[in-house]
Amino acid sequence: MTEPLLKVEHLTKEFPVDSSVFSREKRKVSAVSDVSFEIYPGQTLGLVGESGCGKSTTGRCIMRLIEPTSGKITFDGKDVTKMSRKELKAMRRDMQYIFQDPYASLNPRMTIGEIVSEPLVIHNLMPDKVERIKYVASLLDMVGLNPEHINRYPHEFSGGQRQRVGIARAFALKPKLIICDEPVSALDVSIQAQVLNLLADLQQEFGTAYLFIAHDLSVVQHVSDHVAVMYLGNLMEYADWKELYEKPCHPYSQSLLSAVPVPDPDIQHSRKRIILAGDPPSPIDPPSGCRFHTRCPLATEKCSKEHPELRDLGGGHFCACHYGQPFPIKDSSIEL
Ligand SMILES: Nc1ncnc2c1ncn2[C@@H]1O[C@H](COP(=O)(O)OP(=O)(O)O)[C@@H](O)[C@H]1O
Ligand SMILES: [Mg+2]
Repeated sequence: MTEPLLKVEHLTKEFPVDSSVFSREKRKVSAVSDVSFEIYPGQTLGLVGESGCGKSTTGRCIMRLIEPTSGKITFDGKDVTKMSRKELKAMRRDMQYIFQDPYASLNPRMTIGEIVSEPLVIHNLMPDKVERIKYVASLLDMVGLNPEHINRYPHEFSGGQRQRVGIARAFALKPKLIICDEPVSALDVSIQAQVLNLLADLQQEFGTAYLFIAHDLSVVQHVSDHVAVMYLGNLMEYADWKELYEKPCHPYSQSLLSAVPVPDPDIQHSRKRIILAGDPPSPIDPPSGCRFHTRCPLATEKCSKEHPELRDLGGGHFCACHYGQPFPIKDSSIEL
């Protein structure tokens, strides 16, 4: 059995909040709480949940762009949480990040050639300039950009093209893992499909693993081997993608899935749309017990008191709900 490339165990991140001058109480944002998952080499884990549920914080902690409050992160057999600055720099050769906003994540003062070659320069690879320019041109070609545009600036490109620049930069060092943080959320739907296909093709070619973050289950559906669903900093469900899409267990996953359009009109009509009431509560002082209980159609008193642990449903399917049962979404009996 192959070892996981990335193992996240009980990851927790709390941000301090500026306390009121009248109060001595220290308040904090519970952005990520007790999150665990694994990613195997060459595989994709889709990490899904509403905006603000802690997806980016999870991604940033894994790369140690921010410091986790507690928990353990093992990448390629090494404990990331214990790494020195020097070890972290070496680790980041094998772990890269693609950011959500291709408009804000590319330095407007650098040409796209300089942007893509930056990781090579940081890691002192390919010191020969001619060799480096040739390599960067080949990377631009690989992501579908014209290598002759190597000396142009980001503002001369569309959103989809800029995200291709971000992808070329992420692949410059041929990393083992790329954290793709909502890479297509800022793009038009027609461009989204092109960028997703490009990421899938590159994964095939180089055997790269992805942590693919999205707020929309329909985006991760076609790219993920496994899917993890987060709500207000907690992991609610984790399963093989087919299992999750066919037999979601957690009422939150079921509500997210009921919003995913299905091409077959018969299936679409037989599905019950589950619309959750209200917005997610604040991650400052999140609800007791199950964090989802304030919006959950199945919640009882137990849910407001007892935190549900991830239950093993067999076959690699885990669900953190006292009551949820895996059943096909189209037969959903949840009444709101
Ligand atoms: N630097 C920070 N300081 C304080 N709170 C933060 C910080 N970064 C994120 N948060 C809070 O942590 C929670 C999770 O944020 P984030 O991980 O960005 O969510 P997502 O990526 O799922 O939209 C949010 O409530 C957000 O406001
Ligand atoms: Mg985010």
